[in-house]
Amino acid sequence: FNVPAPQNEPVLNYGPRSVERAALKAALDEARAQQSDIPMYIGGKEIRTGKKLEIRPPHDHKHLLATFHEGDASHVTAAIDAALAAKADWENLPWEQRAAIFLKAAELLSGTYRAKINAATMLGQSKNAYQAEIDSACELIDFLRFNVEYMSEIYKQQPPVSGKGVWNRVEQRPLEGFIFALTPFNFTAIAGNLPASAAMMGNVVVWKPAYTQIYAANVIMQVFKEAGVPDGVINLIYVDGPVAGQVIFNHPDFAGIHFTGSTKVFQNIWQTIGTNIHKYKTYPRIVGETGGKDFVLAHPSAEADVVSTALVRGAFEYQGQKCSAASRAYIPASLWPAVKENMQRDIASFKMGPVEDFGNFINAVISEVSFDKLAKYIDAAKADKEVEVVAGGSYDKSQGWFIEPTVLKVNDPYYVTMCEELFGPVLTIYVYEDKDFSKVLDIVDKTSIYALTGAIISQDRYAIAEATYKLRNAAGNFYINDKPTGAVVGQQPFGGARGSGTNDKAGSMINLLRWVSPRTIKETF
Ligand code: NAD
Ligand code: ALA
Repeated sequence: FNVPAPQNEPVLNYGPRSVERAALKAALDEARAQQSDIPMYIGGKEIRTGKKLEIRPPHDHKHLLATFHEGDASHVTAAIDAALAAKADWENLPWEQRAAIFLKAAELLSGTYRAKINAATMLGQSKNAYQAEIDSACELIDFLRFNVEYMSEIYKQQPPVSGKGVWNRVEQRPLEGFIFALTPFNFTAIAGNLPASAAMMGNVVVWKPAYTQIYAANVIMQVFKEAGVPDGVINLIYVDGPVAGQVIFNHPDFAGIHFTGSTKVFQNIWQTIGTNIHKYKTYPRIVGETGGKDFVLAHPSAEADVVSTALVRGAFEYQGQKCSAASRAYIPASLWPAVKENMQRDIASFKMGPVEDFGNFINAVISEVSFDKLAKYIDAAKADKEVEVVAGGSYDKSQGWFIEPTVLKVNDPYYVTMCEELFGPVLTIYVYEDKDFSKVLDIVDKTSIYALTGAIISQDRYAIAEATYKLRNAAGNFYINDKPTGAVVGQQPFGGARGSGTNDKAGSMINLLRWVSPRTIKETF
């Protein structure tokens, strides 16, 4: 079978008098009025434990948006049992039937669920309408459609040679056991893709989202159910991470983890899996996309407005809470005055506030924990005589977790905010002497403990070539004359190495291949 040729989902325009904006506003109003009570989903059943926790919009923390039912270790066990019970039927379903289910999920997201999933992402994660549209609608739809295409290619691949009287073939089996999908708060697309890509290849999944992601995860689960994902194939649980880990990583049928989140959590999980390795029937697949400290490097030949646009868009869209966000930059002294002026002008024009006002470009950071952490770094920078606050520097938590887009200029390229992942709207800049471009390349590489995304802005082909070579291990996604964010599924497979992950490129055949275990069959006639 050939599957329908995938196309990237068009990004809708939520202009002031558009029907899209009207539909989205209606969905926002409905969601706010509803105060939903969100269950877990185990074996197709809605599970309400009675232990209710609250969900409040990060930009409006006085408003109770919804409640969800928290589970404990017994629910993790129940989810594993439900997954294993569903396994035989699911893996024996012909692959094109599984493909059809996920293509239908993509259609539902593209149509009847579009406003609902975008509203959930706006309210639950404080994304503006445009950021929600490119995440929870377009990117998730693209993941589903393109992965179906890659899946069909994987099943078609066969050994090229069979001799006379011999038929050699390869069967792509799902993994033996269940997959644990552990998803972060910051992308609805990732939350949907992590369980879906493993399930698509015939696996059964226990899915645990970050608690700050549950509001949108619940909508994704509704889409999966309506699309026809059978009961037990994807089980959605809300259990404290370490509690869930204690059950999952001690289970003999644990066959793999599909993780996106922080480097520290992933490293701890890897260590636990290593310690428990003798307990499992098979070596588990460990796939993780983790932290980033992403850079923009400008060459003296660059145009100042190209540099400043890459910086403000790369650093401040979704309040810098993208693993790909530009958070450190290296600017030549000759360009700095113009880049600084442009950035100050652009940042002054940003409106900050709740997502319900579509004019607000900057919204809140995800939580009080994140707010406090960012405020601490900002205060330390403000108190440091060696640091210049070029823009922003204030914060306010009276209504929501609002941090002003902040630009710091430092004299030391090894300053703490040039090296650590802050995960918020803080960009640190080091200004170098024009003649030192090659030396700066070495510094960028040396400080790339993470290696997710990076950008070189230059009109000089030799400088581009030098940076592309010298920084070959400093970024899994490398951008030339563009911001380091906004990878599109089917166009720029996404992921990084070093502290940024196993680089199994989300939305690619490489990723899907991690969820199968091939069996070679030789038949002699
Ligand atoms: P996080 O690491 O705090 O949480 C990720 C998931 O792990 C959540 O479901 C969380 O509940 C769970 N978890 C946390 N501690 C656990 C434990 N001890 N045992 C088991 N599970 C545990 O990450 P986050 O704050 O939700 O997301 C932000 C992070 O994700 C950033 O570091 C960002 O760079 C990274 N990220 C990376 C990519 C990428 O593609 N590389 C994409 C998005 C986000
Ligand atoms: N895929 C997202 C980006 O590239 C994280 O910005």
